[in-house]
Amino acid sequence: MLSLGVLCSGSGTNLQAILDACASGELDARVKLVLCNKPAVMALERAKRAGVPSRVLSHRDAPSREEYDAVLVTALREAGVELVVLAGFLRLVTPVLLEAFPDRVINIHPALLPSFPGLDGQQQALAYGVTITGCTVHLVDAGMDTGPILAQAAVPVLDGDDRDTLARRVLRQEHRLLVEVIRWFVEGRVWVERAEGQRPRVWVDGRRRAFWSDEP
Ligand code: GRF
Repeated sequence: MLSLGVLCSGSGTNLQAILDACASGELDARVKLVLCNKPAVMALERAKRAGVPSRVLSHRDAPSREEYDAVLVTALREAGVELVVLAGFLRLVTPVLLEAFPDRVINIHPALLPSFPGLDGQQQALAYGVTITGCTVHLVDAGMDTGPILAQAAVPVLDGDDRDTLARRVLRQEHRLLVEVIRWFVEGRVWVERAEGQRPRVWVDGRRRAFWSDEP
């Protein structure tokens, strides 16, 4: 059984998808700790309801990003976490966290990277006028949404979409995609290829199983 640590900043619907998949047995994993950088967010309530330990660790209490990450690492290690999932965690992480969990920190982003990194990928996609957007689960590196891509799901932008209708449809795919990728880690099927002068590439069962679409 894989021990997960989930980092959140807000509503925690991705956390909920993970908790549900663990509870139903779909994932042979357990959330050992939920960490939030903000108090009184819905993610904390979700952890409480699921009987999962949670902590608020405010970045405002740490003098630097590195020192904040050192606090996160201590908490995650104490909880015995093996895979760190950034699920709506609105902070950039540093090598302090990444080196403590090499190739074991993943993030969900609500756009098809490398398009529309950073905040509000859904609004960025809408404003740009793309007809297909989606979500990406990637390994985290020290950049903003720049790490090697694990999996992507495509979501069409429909006539009449506004930010919220689009975000809702993207979110449904986020929940599916994130749970699927965590399963790959649970089953030990992820391999990261690093070649000189190239971006690292992720393989699952020796293949690039990186794409699906919610189109029928
Ligand atoms: C998701 O769209 C996630 O991709 C983005 O922030 C949103 C968080 O949603 N980074 P939730 O907290 O999981 O409900």
